[in-house]
Amino acid sequence: MKIDRILVIGACGQIGTELTVALREKYGRYNVIAADKKITADILLDVMDHEELSNVVRECSVTQIYHLAAMLSANGEQNADAAWKLNVGGLLNVLKVAKERKLDKVFWPSSIAVFGLGSPKYNCPQNTRIEPNTVYGISKRAGEYWCNYYYEKYGVDVRSLRFPGLISYTALPGGGTTDYAVDIFHQALEKQYYTCFLSEDNCLPMMYMPDAIRATLELMDTPKEKISIRTSYNLAGMSFAPCDLAAEIEKYIPDFKISYEPDYRNAIANSWPASIKDDNARKDWGWEPAYNLESMTSDMLEKLSIMKGMPVLLSSGNSQEEFQPLAHETLHSLLGTANSLREVTKTHVINE
Ligand SMILES: NC(=O)c1ccc[n+]([C@@H]2O[C@H](COP(=O)([O-])OP(=O)(O)OC[C@H]3O[C@@H](n4cnc5c(N)ncnc54)[C@H](O)[C@@H]3O)[C@@H](O)[C@H]2O)c1
Repeated sequence: MKIDRILVIGACGQIGTELTVALREKYGRYNVIAADKKITADILLDVMDHEELSNVVRECSVTQIYHLAAMLSANGEQNADAAWKLNVGGLLNVLKVAKERKLDKVFWPSSIAVFGLGSPKYNCPQNTRIEPNTVYGISKRAGEYWCNYYYEKYGVDVRSLRFPGLISYTALPGGGTTDYAVDIFHQALEKQYYTCFLSEDNCLPMMYMPDAIRATLELMDTPKEKISIRTSYNLAGMSFAPCDLAAEIEKYIPDFKISYEPDYRNAIANSWPASIKDDNARKDWGWEPAYNLESMTSDMLEKLSIMKGMPVLLSSGNSQEEFQPLAHETLHSLLGTANSLREVTKTHVINE
């Protein structure tokens, strides 16, 4: 029987950190190779190096690639050339190697950033006016067409999801417009205060990481004949604005305060839809999200407070009756621990 051998490229990022674990649970520890430019990966690999990538695929008998290396929306606006080069050039290398080495499957994420000001703001459908106005969005839209091209022309079985903003507690986000929705949890626990770089009512499509990981695995398990979209599937989880998330956090941390200082990322967010219609994903492979704003917030606070060595704020039931607000003094006495953890994280980021 043929063994599935998976290469995850960009494995040390926000998605890769959790996807690699999930893939290892499914395929076995030694059948999933974590590749990245960061030294914490199993192997150091620059996706821009076609020869190196091809050698890794051959030497490790790789059968599937999950390609996650990219420059995200906010960083992309500051580094247009590098973003275009990595996001499109990296994908093209993966698709070429998939064709040459006759790989079974490839996963590559697109983003809601493909949509622009001309797209419907609410319940944005799969097929509509798609005119991205960021370097990141343009690179994702071009990538979608390249995936479709390699499928139609060479039969490469490449599958893709347009992820909304992703919220997770394991790894820090990598420079996107929706990063606030992760930062806010860290700051709420450590300082009970957050300055948000989006305006309070800037509503965006978002998703909790466990849903994003499950969506990826479900899409990749779907029989080939059921995949009707070879550019990238719309995918929805929940939609909320910073003020909605702040109000939800306040239920658990009553002292929590938020202020708003919108910067250039607010304009990027303004150009994206507030909500997404994902009926093709639901019809083709039975997609359904499990988390909403309430259950995501409860889980994030619980998991992060454990990670930061704080008392567990709440039970997983997410009911108001079970909620135990943390006293102000208790939080302050814990700040020493939390701040030193933050220093470690900062050092790690600066070293990259
Ligand atoms: N996180 C989100 O909210 C979100 C939303 C929509 C789509 N996506 C897409 O999902 C994918 C992964 O996103 P993420 O949030 O995990 O990104 P991230 O920035 O957290 O991680 C990207 C990883 O790629 C690595 N990398 C960068 N350049 C590389 C290179 N040349 N060779 C090998 N590795 C390299 C980085 O070191 C990093 O570990 C990206 O394609 C992104 O566009 C993410």
